[in-house]
Amino acid sequence: EDGIRDQPRSRGLGDVYKRQLQLIVMGPPGSGKGTQSLALATDIGAMHISTGDLFRHHERSATSLGDQIQGFMKKGDLVPDHITIAMLKDKIESLPDGKGYILDGFPRTLNQAISFDEMLTAGSSKLDLVICIDVPERQLEHRLLRRMICAECSLVYGSHVGGEYDEYCKNCGGELQKRVDDSDKEVIGHRLKKYLDLSLPIIDHYQTHGILHRIDGTGSVTEVTTAIKRVLASTFKGTLSFNY
Ligand code: AP5
Repeated sequence: EDGIRDQPRSRGLGDVYKRQLQLIVMGPPGSGKGTQSLALATDIGAMHISTGDLFRHHERSATSLGDQIQGFMKKGDLVPDHITIAMLKDKIESLPDGKGYILDGFPRTLNQAISFDEMLTAGSSKLDLVICIDVPERQLEHRLLRRMICAECSLVYGSHVGGEYDEYCKNCGGELQKRVDDSDKEVIGHRLKKYLDLSLPIIDHYQTHGILHRIDGTGSVTEVTTAIKRVLASTFKGTLSFNY
């Protein structure tokens, strides 16, 4: 998988979405950004774009970008802005016109957020909503230490799937592995600290634009998905409708 998943609309929802949304899902490492973005993308027929998955794809494929970034990822440091912004810009520009998307893991710095605003304005486009998932730190470490991901399709496994999981992915048969940045408590702590240090200005930025919604991410995966869909339904009433 290359970090972009074009999700077909789920059956039963029908063609109820009259416009394509452009969303950001943010939150600390382990808050469930990836899990929720994938679930929502499946429901609303949007692209799920995860900058972390894109970077991991480059690492696995040993591209020159992969070589440049692997030191940052392994230590839990952010990849420099100029690399991240250029990669995201390429991906967004490769989407079909008007295609909706859910950004997972971008922006991580205020500079990324501002560059993204400029990119959207230049394309006469705009962000519809930013969802920020809040989970207390002690739960995050537990989730990250338990997480496994499929080496082939990047599907995420964890405690929410009911405890034990197989050695191989139920989706594609790929081998389940631990992420290199989930294997060491110090690296996990470093990633959490980075988020705490850098996220506040981003949250303020989107709050000022009136498009930020905070969601309690401590419930079950389904409960959190339902809470996010409620926000989407109430924000886009008349433009969209949801089954939940
Ligand atoms: P990235 O891949 O984005 O990692 P992250 O932000 O650390 O977030 P995670 O993927 O760890 O967590 P998540 O919130 O997606 O949680 P998940 O759904 O998997 O980034 C990795 C690295 O890439 C960065 O450190 C950096 O180096 C680089 N990078 C990426 N983007 C960048 C950017 N914009 N700028 C610069 N560098 C960048 O869930 C976690 C676990 O919990 C899973 O096991 C899941 O099954 C479980 N779970 C989920 N929801 C629940 C629930 N409600 N209850 C119980 N368990 C749950």
